[in-house]
Amino acid sequence: MSHHKEPAVIPVITVDGASGTGKGTVSQVLATRLRWNFLDSGALYRVLALAAQKHSVALGNEEALKVLAEHLDVQFIAQENKLSKIILEGEDVTDTIRTELIGNDASIVAALPAVRAALLSRQRVFRELPGLVADGRDMGTVVFPDAELKIFLIASPEERALRRYHQLMEKGINVTLSDLIQELRERDKRDQERTVAPLKPAADAIAIDTNGLTVEEVVNRILAEVHQKKAFPVISSLTTMELVEAAGVAE
Ligand code: C5P
Repeated sequence: MSHHKEPAVIPVITVDGASGTGKGTVSQVLATRLRWNFLDSGALYRVLALAAQKHSVALGNEEALKVLAEHLDVQFIAQENKLSKIILEGEDVTDTIRTELIGNDASIVAALPAVRAALLSRQRVFRELPGLVADGRDMGTVVFPDAELKIFLIASPEERALRRYHQLMEKGINVTLSDLIQELRERDKRDQERTVAPLKPAADAIAIDTNGLTVEEVVNRILAEVHQKKAFPVISSLTTMELVEAAGVAE
């Protein structure tokens, strides 16, 4: 008999969907409840967009952006019950990358095939024991196609714009609702129509319509799916509600 064992597959839960569906908070709270690692893949595209700005690389220069992506000096520093601190070239950019402008630039660089390919391995290294919750657009379709559980969150454009509006107002950032809806439409179009890894649910994803649901309700619905799998214990001592409050930030 062989003494070699197959390496155990590290479980992944993917949470995909458009911006403003509550994905960010939902997946982060889920990761904390399971005490799993968390990948905020959108942050990588945002950091790349910021690095491009910093180094005066044009958003259409695919070759230069690819090189920038390959050499991106970025660190994610885990913080208890909150989103990781993000350090680009030694500078804390956790808040800087959250602007609408950077989000828009991120969706432009994210449409470039060479950029997406360059960021693949950087995303896969987050898959560590005991498990990973991966938040993005193509987590279930491209980055972790073998994930145990795939979730796709849906919300109407109006609801998403309204959520975003409240978050930005809370942060003291002034925007108009109509500008937000307009930007959201443009970003959706770009994310859905791009040729590589367009935003769409994986064939085996469970779609959850989040209209009218609170973050807690969405997390609990996903946890119900997790329980059905029986494979993953929920071990955080904090409740979903407490974790949503601790998160405070993100989408
Ligand atoms: O999720 P977030 O708004 O931070 O993502 C910013 C942009 O990065 C998205 O609009 C999308 O174009 C891109 N993105 C992507 N694939 C991912 C995550 C984000 O293309 N997995």
